[in-house]
Amino acid sequence: MQEVLLVKSDFERFPLWVEAFADFDIELRSWDDAGDSDGIDYAMVWQPEPHYLAQFKNLKVVFSVGAGIDHLRGEHYVPDGVPVVRMVDAGLTAGMTEFVVFNVLRFHRFMDVYGRNQRAGKWHEIMQVPADKRRIGILGAGELGSNAAAALVALNFSVQTWSRGEKQLPQIRSFFGGDQLSAFLASSDILVCLLPLTDATQDLINEDTLEKLPKGAFFINGGRGGQVDEQALLDALNSGRLAGAALDVFKTEPLPSDSPFWQHPKVFITPHVASMTTPASSSRHIVNNIQRLRDGKSLTHVADLQQGY
Ligand code: NAP
Ligand code: GLV
Repeated sequence: MQEVLLVKSDFERFPLWVEAFADFDIELRSWDDAGDSDGIDYAMVWQPEPHYLAQFKNLKVVFSVGAGIDHLRGEHYVPDGVPVVRMVDAGLTAGMTEFVVFNVLRFHRFMDVYGRNQRAGKWHEIMQVPADKRRIGILGAGELGSNAAAALVALNFSVQTWSRGEKQLPQIRSFFGGDQLSAFLASSDILVCLLPLTDATQDLINEDTLEKLPKGAFFINGGRGGQVDEQALLDALNSGRLAGAALDVFKTEPLPSDSPFWQHPKVFITPHVASMTTPASSSRHIVNNIQRLRDGKSLTHVADLQQGY
């Protein structure tokens, strides 16, 4: 009997998923037309309601549509014993690297200041800073952090990462663990967050950590809004401790219309689109894993729900 993959994501993308899986031996069902729940073998989900997955008694794997699995954290989300595979895909990684490089260059080349000057009709040259004199600190050195770091090294920036374990990445200084966070922050002119949201990273960007950055540093968030104390971030922008921020993710999404971030002159907002899962490329990761299971092999990129990523 043909296996069934249930897709619980946005409706617009469902036909794209069907097209992407067309050559693979599996039936795709949309969550609004799931049919017999005992017949569901796999579920590919984004932000399911609590208890939603419990109805599928024969579920073999939960695939996260996103790289982050914070939307599946909590005891009511994933049935006991069912593995969660997170999204790792070259297209998703490339998208995030573009977002990071774009925003690093925005601040590095003073495009934020020139934009403000243009609107004020002001012609004013600012001395260029050589890339190797600009220290980029990336929080997270996983799939996304390490790729963005390598792209910035290729542009000659001085790059360092912070992770839980030590990394050996060419031309990139590795900081790791809580003890090394202060030193890492103190030497990050542009701080980029590409961490997963876990108990340990919740509100990691706060008054205390922002205070450790060099005065006039920039902050780019492509991780999760939950990692930021937003009032502390606003205070740091208003006091001049931070010179600018590019924010893709927020504590509440969509960002409420009365949020002070919308109109803040030093803030650049994108609506959680730093990188997107695209069915044509991301389906390969899911096909590969289902095929591995059918061949009796182990799954790749299984998330640790306790650890949170
Ligand atoms: P990943 O491969 O799992 O990498 C996570 C990195 O974070 C690892 O280097 C890990 O350290 C580090 N880390 C985790 N907890 C830490 C802690 N407490 N202290 C220090 N370092 C810690 O994840 P990824 O694929 O790069 O994705 C990262 C995150 O990006 C996702 O979880 C998601 O939230 C976010 N994201 C956002 C968008 C967007 O559009 N805005 C798109 C995709 C992903 P170790 O290597 O030592 O384990
Ligand atoms: C998007 O936010 C993701 O986690 O992939």
